[in-house]
Amino acid sequence: MASRRRFEERSVIVTGAASGIGRETAVRFAREGALVTVADIDEEGARQTVEAITADGGVARACRTDVTDPDAVQAMVDGAAEAYGGLHVLHNNAYWAPLGRTVADTTLPEWDRTIDTTLKSVFLGCKYAIPHMVAAGGGVIVNTASTAGLVATPSFAAYMAAKGGVIALTRSIAFDYGKEGIRCNAVAPGLTRTPATDPVFRDQERLDFLTDRLLLGYAGEPKDIAEAALYLAGDESRFMTGQTIVVDGGRLIA
Ligand SMILES: NC(=O)c1ccc[n+]([C@@H]2O[C@H](COP(=O)([O-])OP(=O)(O)OC[C@H]3O[C@@H](n4cnc5c(N)ncnc54)[C@H](O)[C@@H]3O)[C@@H](O)[C@H]2O)c1
Repeated sequence: MASRRRFEERSVIVTGAASGIGRETAVRFAREGALVTVADIDEEGARQTVEAITADGGVARACRTDVTDPDAVQAMVDGAAEAYGGLHVLHNNAYWAPLGRTVADTTLPEWDRTIDTTLKSVFLGCKYAIPHMVAAGGGVIVNTASTAGLVATPSFAAYMAAKGGVIALTRSIAFDYGKEGIRCNAVAPGLTRTPATDPVFRDQERLDFLTDRLLLGYAGEPKDIAEAALYLAGDESRFMTGQTIVVDGGRLIA
């Protein structure tokens, strides 16, 4: 018997899908039958993700989007709905943040860019996606948070604030739109090997220190986070909303 593909014919947007976790998640959605809009400010990276999906027999389109720009986000949502007959899943995953900044070290432009790219982007995506979903009788939103939104991390002030906001916004949307058929959950990754964390993985001493604090003793791969995002986006999690799933190798409970 052929196995059922979980997202057959469903229109899915993944932001930050030109790289890392977003790319892997987009590829896995497509493998499960989704019609994927690969949204990113990095046009070339988005094109490569689409190429990987189509080479794999999937369906995807690249959409150059600056997630901090309201008009661009509205166009991203409307374009996906038009191209693929609606919008079933929005995965807000793009981010930017400076490393190694306490509050006093953070410049105002760094603060604004972090909040805009990492938090306002989620607000904008939801703001424009929700009317489509309500009109269609429902939809699913999955936000990428971080363990840094739940516990303290050294010198990561703006990022922690933004990710804490993502977790709160996830609950707000779950509260306001549950009865309109919209579920909203978040996945909170711990240390995961992506281009963003490449400096950590090239610094053996730092990597050993960090992985030693993970109960499983190894860092995550993008597929580990992608599978949690797919679970939250799919019908298997139909009774879950407003939650943040931690996928962190056991860091937070230690
Ligand atoms: N890698 C980790 O250890 C880790 C841990 C916790 C949380 N996360 C979260 O996972 C998500 C993905 O991170 P990653 O590690 O894959 O990073 P990444 O750097 O590989 O990917 C981030 C993507 O966001 C895109 N982006 C940046 N600014 C944008 C903008 N203005 N508009 C549109 N796209 C933009 C980038 O072009 C890039 O493709 C992020 O939300 C991040 O906070 C990652």
